[in-house]
Amino acid sequence: MASIQRVAVLGATGNLGPAIISQLQTSGFTVTAISRTSTQHTNSTPVLPVDLPVLRVDFTSFDELKEAFTGQDAVVSVVGVPGVPCQKLAVDAARAARVRRFVPSEFGVNTRVVKEEGGKIGVVWGGKIGVEWGGKIEVVDYLEAVKEGDEFSWTGIATGLILDWNLDRNGLGIINLKDKSATVLDSGNEKFQASTLAQVCRAVAGILKHPDETANKYVSVASFNMSENELVTLVEELTGWTLPVTHIKSADIRKTGEDKIAVADARGFADLLRMYNGADGAGHKLEEADSVNRVIGLPYEDLWAEVANWLRRKGAL
Ligand SMILES: NC(=O)c1ccc[n+]([C@@H]2O[C@H](COP(=O)([O-])OP(=O)(O)OC[C@H]3O[C@@H](n4cnc5c(N)ncnc54)[C@H](OP(=O)(O)O)[C@@H]3O)[C@@H](O)[C@H]2O)c1
Repeated sequence: MASIQRVAVLGATGNLGPAIISQLQTSGFTVTAISRTSTQHTNSTPVLPVDLPVLRVDFTSFDELKEAFTGQDAVVSVVGVPGVPCQKLAVDAARAARVRRFVPSEFGVNTRVVKEEGGKIGVVWGGKIGVEWGGKIEVVDYLEAVKEGDEFSWTGIATGLILDWNLDRNGLGIINLKDKSATVLDSGNEKFQASTLAQVCRAVAGILKHPDETANKYVSVASFNMSENELVTLVEELTGWTLPVTHIKSADIRKTGEDKIAVADARGFADLLRMYNGADGAGHKLEEADSVNRVIGLPYEDLWAEVANWLRRKGAL
């Protein structure tokens, strides 16, 4: 497959978009941001480079999407959760525009695994919040059903939990820096897949630099596997604090999450995601053999260094 040079990014103005664009540019890609006509963002949105071309498109219009995608080699979608369903039309438009690679908005748990687990999560995550993974699964199913034979291809990327982004928000719900305390789920020993935001961005660039090896695949990357106890221990070692630890049971956090979702409280998502990752026996760490890190030349990272960086950002070191 010819190399990929021109990349359009959908959902460029969100939490992940600016960092991904910056990494794509650093990696030598020519990037265009595609933003909804309805959005308030402009070219001068401070998070985006001032010289970045931004196309305004109606995401419900096949013709407008096709026109915006024409001339692009790849489309990377980082649309937020409400935008996930609109990606099917974007896939159709990308194929019609002869785009060669579509990367759907995944960047979290491996939704192929969620699907394989028999829709268990779909039941647990019923109601409004459950739509996120269901919608992502549908888009990847749609991509998998695309007939091979034309130039179009796709890559889905599971990254696990984005560590620094989630630590900055709420200490993963594990570490409370203000109270110098911790809350640990079950034994706290369950390992789960996690990536830094920088690693997520390098993964997107790495996949586009390796189009043959990653064509028509759902792949997984990680910075490391980690457990809740490891995080607590690292914070204690780095700060010299002794954190009082409260243990919570996964059955309780599941009920809390479901109760929140039942009343459309989006914070239930975080509770259930934590259970999905950290409950004893969850089994959602990423084995090296199942990771695409080596294929795209992505080294693993050091959890100690990332936790230290976070503590520094928070003024705790
Ligand atoms: N693993 C993790 O820990 C983690 C953490 C955060 C995010 N994620 C994942 O990363 C992906 C991107 O998340 P994000 O937090 O960056 O998203 P976001 O900030 O919520 O939204 C990104 C952009 O999507 C566009 N958008 C919003 N609503 C839309 C709609 N209804 N239709 C079409 N486009 C819409 C907007 O761009 P315009 O207004 O410019 O059109 C918005 O700026 C998601 O798949 C999310 O699940 C994972």
